[in-house]
Amino acid sequence: MFVRVTLVLAFTASVIPDCFGVAPKIKLNDGYEIPGLGIGTWLGFTKDGQRVQTTGDEVQKAVEWAIDAGYRHIDTAAIYSTETQVGKAVNNKIAEGVIKREDVFITTKLWNDRHAEDAVIPALQESLQRLNTSYVDLYLIHWPIAEFSNHTLDGTDYLTTWKGMVAARAQGLTRSIGVSNFNVQQLNRLQEASDVVPAALQVEINLNLQQPSLLEYCQKHGIVVTGYTPFGSLFGARGRDEPPPPRVDHPELVRIATKYNKTVPQVVLRYEVELGVIPIPKSTTKSRIEQNIAVFDFALTAEERATLRNFDKHYRVIPVKHWSKSPYYPFEKN
Ligand SMILES: NC(=O)c1ccc[n+]([C@@H]2O[C@H](COP(=O)([O-])OP(=O)(O)OC[C@H]3O[C@@H](n4cnc5c(N)ncnc54)[C@H](OP(=O)(O)O)[C@@H]3O)[C@@H](O)[C@H]2O)c1
Ligand SMILES: *[C@@H]1O[C@H](CO)[C@@H](O)[C@H](O)[C@H]1NC(C)=O
Ligand SMILES: *[C@@H]1O[C@H](CO)[C@@H](O)[C@H](O)[C@H]1NC(C)=O
Ligand SMILES: *[C@@H]1O[C@H](CO)[C@@H](O)[C@H](O)[C@H]1NC(C)=O
Repeated sequence: MFVRVTLVLAFTASVIPDCFGVAPKIKLNDGYEIPGLGIGTWLGFTKDGQRVQTTGDEVQKAVEWAIDAGYRHIDTAAIYSTETQVGKAVNNKIAEGVIKREDVFITTKLWNDRHAEDAVIPALQESLQRLNTSYVDLYLIHWPIAEFSNHTLDGTDYLTTWKGMVAARAQGLTRSIGVSNFNVQQLNRLQEASDVVPAALQVEINLNLQQPSLLEYCQKHGIVVTGYTPFGSLFGARGRDEPPPPRVDHPELVRIATKYNKTVPQVVLRYEVELGVIPIPKSTTKSRIEQNIAVFDFALTAEERATLRNFDKHYRVIPVKHWSKSPYYPFEKN
């Protein structure tokens, strides 16, 4: 592993500024590889709980900056309304000769209103059209919960949806398939019902929600974990109430960051990498995009990891409580 990382850095040094680093690749259970850090492209919620709609080209710019900074992994979803901009960015960088399509790992996700078995392939084809590409690297069931497009709950079982995912993969529309926001019971049920083990699970992982037993389960079953909302509540409350510490100015975090001449967000991302998680931090700010991938040239001590482990309070930024009436709601209901 160490040797390979060194080689990758040496090989790309001529194209990518040294300080930005390159995320080492991790093997998936189907033989493909996924870069160990990616850029998120969800623009979040407004104060009144609506999804922020993109109006300009902020995501396209962000993804172009990210590719220039050495990112080779982009996370999007049909529901984010950012696939078109991701596609433009990737195709621009291909046209500029910076990357080839096969150099970049693109993940997108099936929305809850396309869970019928025969709805999966058409939904993915629409995503591919927006992304202007002939395949994605990873297609995820975004949530185990099905909804009609009028937002009422639909009882479709995710086992049915998974059959559609397997068919999409067989057609070559996606290289790998996986799931997001599934719990251990749901992963188990899926594995008992299907020969195809998900290549990846995407779930919320941050200092307040470290999910050690879920990570252990995935490691044991060869499922790679990508971690969303990697900064959690570091920059303040994003949800309903006052989240537990730490904030970005927490003295213990500042002390560790200062020691390595890194920022606190970099220390947090580094910790997640050391947990074996693939973080997908979102930023549309050039300097932060560059900062967030520069986490592969230092390592935390066991003592520092223990300090960071103590912030785990099983606190979710994204509980989506209004789905708790679904039989497939994946989280604790209290
Ligand atoms: N599967 C799912 O259900 C699911 C759910 C949520 C998220 N996701 C994915 O995970 C990605 C990341 O999660 P997220 O967007 O919720 O949250 P996040 O990446 O933890 O945080 C994003 C916020 O942090 C700020 N930020 C980024 N880097 C920073 C830095 N170095 N210093 C200071 N501030 C910084 C960003 O600001 P600026 O952009 O203004 O720089 C933005 O406000 C999403 O974009 C999406 O792709 C998936
Ligand atoms: C799609 O990508 C191709 C290059 O692969 C490019 O020539 C074409 O202009 C793009 N189409 C759109 C609509 O962006
Ligand atoms: C939502 O759509 C479903 C499926 O078309 C339908 O059965 C249901 O009655 C609708 N619910 C409401 C509140 O409109
Ligand atoms: C600390 O990090 C900054 C930003 O990456 C860099 O410009 C500076 O040279 C570093 N200082 C030392 C002493 O390494």
